[in-house]
Amino acid sequence: MKKRHSRKADARNRARVRSATNNAVFLVGFMGAGKSSVGRALGRRLNWLFEDLDDRIEQREGRRVAEIFRDSGESAFRRAEHLALEQALEQLQGGVPRIIALGGGAFIQPSIAELLETSGVPTVFLDASVEELWQRCCRQAAESRTERPLLKDLDQFRRLYDSRRQSYLKASLKIQTGNRSVDAIAAEIAEKLGLETIALRTELGESE
Ligand code: S3P
Repeated sequence: MKKRHSRKADARNRARVRSATNNAVFLVGFMGAGKSSVGRALGRRLNWLFEDLDDRIEQREGRRVAEIFRDSGESAFRRAEHLALEQALEQLQGGVPRIIALGGGAFIQPSIAELLETSGVPTVFLDASVEELWQRCCRQAAESRTERPLLKDLDQFRRLYDSRRQSYLKASLKIQTGNRSVDAIAAEIAEKLGLETIALRTELGESE
């Protein structure tokens, strides 16, 4: 009896993973890689929803990312990140197709990498030279678009990037973003992963 139940549960899990696989894409990469702008462009192209995991974390926690780092420390942020990702993965089942941009440190966390691998959802590593990543982050900081607690100086930025790159390379697809438009990058991702445009989208008041 027990065995039959667990076989059924296994089959259910496999079916869920299969549907999530065609239903979502995760964008990973270092700060300044363009995960959010490429994600939005890809969402427009495919008529899929776009989500930034950091926004979900902020909504769940009722605080900005920078405040979580400042008041509770990085490990508290990483726990919140893991929980937010679990919730996002649960919502993928049977939902509207979705592109999710992860914060630069998420894919580096072994527990998060494991969750993503089990889900079967493709991951796309957006990369550029460390100098270009740094320039983009500095530009965004000057425009006050993003407050990044881990953005300090170029040396520290480079060390952090070097220590993470091997982990990013485990993504299913690697894309160079240097000197390219977000639309060209989005087109390459859609083509290489064979992602399909959907005609109609209705969720959370959003309809087209
Ligand atoms: C982080 C990157 C940030 C954000 C947090 C931690 C990191 O996201 O999640 O500040 O560890 O690299 P972006 O990559 O969108 O800047």
